[in-house]
Amino acid sequence: MWKGRFQKPTSGLVEQFGESISFDWRLYPHDVAGSVAHARLLLEAGILDPKEFSDIETGLRQIEADIDAGTFEFDPALEDIHMNIEAALTKRVGAAGAKLHTARSRNDQVATATRLYCRAEIDALTDLLAGLQKALLERAGAYAGAVMPGYTHLQRGQPVTAGHHLLAYIEMLERDQERLAECRARLNVCPLGSGALAGSTIALDRAAAAKELGFDTVTTNSMDAIADRDYIVELLGGLALCGAHLSRLSEDLILWTSTEFGFATLSDAHTTGSSLMPQKKNPDVCELTRGKAGRLFGNLLGLLTTLKGLPLTYNRDLQEDKEPLFDSIDTIKLAVAVNTDMLGGLELDVARCREAASDPLLLATDLADYLVNNGVPFREAHELVGTAVAKSIETQTPLDELDLAAVSKHFGDDTAAIFDLDRALAARTTPGAPSPANVNAEIERWREKLGVE
Ligand code: ARG
Repeated sequence: MWKGRFQKPTSGLVEQFGESISFDWRLYPHDVAGSVAHARLLLEAGILDPKEFSDIETGLRQIEADIDAGTFEFDPALEDIHMNIEAALTKRVGAAGAKLHTARSRNDQVATATRLYCRAEIDALTDLLAGLQKALLERAGAYAGAVMPGYTHLQRGQPVTAGHHLLAYIEMLERDQERLAECRARLNVCPLGSGALAGSTIALDRAAAAKELGFDTVTTNSMDAIADRDYIVELLGGLALCGAHLSRLSEDLILWTSTEFGFATLSDAHTTGSSLMPQKKNPDVCELTRGKAGRLFGNLLGLLTTLKGLPLTYNRDLQEDKEPLFDSIDTIKLAVAVNTDMLGGLELDVARCREAASDPLLLATDLADYLVNNGVPFREAHELVGTAVAKSIETQTPLDELDLAAVSKHFGDDTAAIFDLDRALAARTTPGAPSPANVNAEIERWREKLGVE
């Protein structure tokens, strides 16, 4: 591609070190789309005649079909997908192919193809995330009223329901999709026509190519357009946070399925055994999901580090954007798919969950609220209940069996009702709190939003 200026061929090691075709081949449909759009501009500008344009378009479509079919031979000496396609095109259609690169650089070509790739993957991932939300919603519906302890500091705090707990993850995944949508909106701008860094002396209708490629508009500074990888950082950031959410879900499931908790089981199809200990049933999918979050974070940090010291505009360092991008996309898609699959087999031991929530200490806050309703300032109420809790622990008497009147005259003979779990949940009617009415309404809201029957 640059043989005019050079007298020696590229060294084999440089070729090996510099090639990106082994991973960027997957940009091919986007590279082809970008090239067809660019060729149409050259036609409009009179640089290609109609025959040349149609030869190029047909040639590019054939190359795309060959790559689809796995019959295309990639040549690492041609470095990347862009040069592989252009070289194959010139071989197939001759002189017309050699005109395609007019007023274009691989710099705007790679930026265009990468944006198109990110856009397509965001759309695919958004669908997968909605699928995971549906799987969570199905389980939340099945266990809407299953009482379990809610935790802070991994210490039992207050009663919630499994439905409420699972709905929390649907919220996180919704924000993940919002972030992806915002990233998509910002990246959907066409850099084609920015050339190597300073546009071109050959005037092309950039807006027409942008429209053909489904971009909302064109970039407005050729140097920024070539140097910009913000959209990949944003996407990797969004995927990292999504990975953190999946990791937190994993950790909850790991705890729930432990013998110590005994709240839940996963299906045999989504757990693994031990090669040594016959009794083991391990939540490997959850652990792998938790582990892969680290790799998603690493990809984000790696790219930020690559970008940090780069002067404008293109520097070859930028080729290092692709492997972390592809890895994060592949990792998150598979993680979301396998977790969706796994959730279908999540069974809760409702009785055991309820029993874990039946410790009257979980209603100590409700007891303080009872005092508040009888006119005691909350700080005082907190202290009185704290005293009762200390006494309960000291005398090994459950809080609901303690002589509360001996602690304070503010405790009447109607405190027994406070320790009724179902009452305690039903009373949590503030918006967002886990009363059965609220949880059912939330399930209904999500069913509608996600289009579930
Ligand atoms: N393989 C390169 C990359 O992915 C394509 C752009 C190369 N441009 C250049 N001037 N060497 O970044």
